Amino acid sequence: MSETLTIVKHPLVQHKLTLMREKDTSTASFRRLLREISLLLAYEITRDLPLSERRIETPLCEMDAPVIEGKKLALISILRAGNGLLDGILELVPAARVGFVGLYRDEETLQPVQYYNKLPTQMNSRLAIVVDPMLATGNSSAAAVDLVKQAGATDIRFLCLLAAPEGVQRMAEAHPDVPVVTAALDERLNEKGYIVPGLGDAGDRMFGTK
Ligand code: URA
Repeated sequence: MSETLTIVKHPLVQHKLTLMREKDTSTASFRRLLREISLLLAYEITRDLPLSERRIETPLCEMDAPVIEGKKLALISILRAGNGLLDGILELVPAARVGFVGLYRDEETLQPVQYYNKLPTQMNSRLAIVVDPMLATGNSSAAAVDLVKQAGATDIRFLCLLAAPEGVQRMAEAHPDVPVVTAALDERLNEKGYIVPGLGDAGDRMFGTK
């Protein structure tokens, strides 16, 4: 598969994902699992952030201690399902700046239609992590990354829960410079653009709208 793709195979991630896939998992459980899994995925996607040293004083002595270098991260949520991943990541990186991109998928053409775009300032000096649980056709994800690049970002990663091969390929073609991190790569998309076996509509399942 694509060189830009990382699948997080940690047993806790895989177990929680299985619970989320099950059709009878309640909205409350789905939401809790999504928050838990996003912490683990955030841990993975940030594992190589550059560090610098800061002089600090412990109760015993002074030392040069590691801190994350550079400007605060920018987390960009693709509305609305991205917010489910966002909440968990923010618990781990509470000082991150947050942006929102509103895209809905035209159910006939499967193409993204933009209705909202509000990104943090100084995107050119931040690592941007774009989040959306489902990388399906990749059209919305590629469009969201386009907007993040237009805002000046050059260091961008994409985080999702489930990916379809079609979406991974679309992202690799449109944005070969953007690593994609996911918990699983599923088999395919169905004729309606849903990931199979998947977990259904992530937004509906997390917000209880169906
Ligand atoms: N969006 C979803 O919520 N689920 C899919 O399977 C595909 C796109």
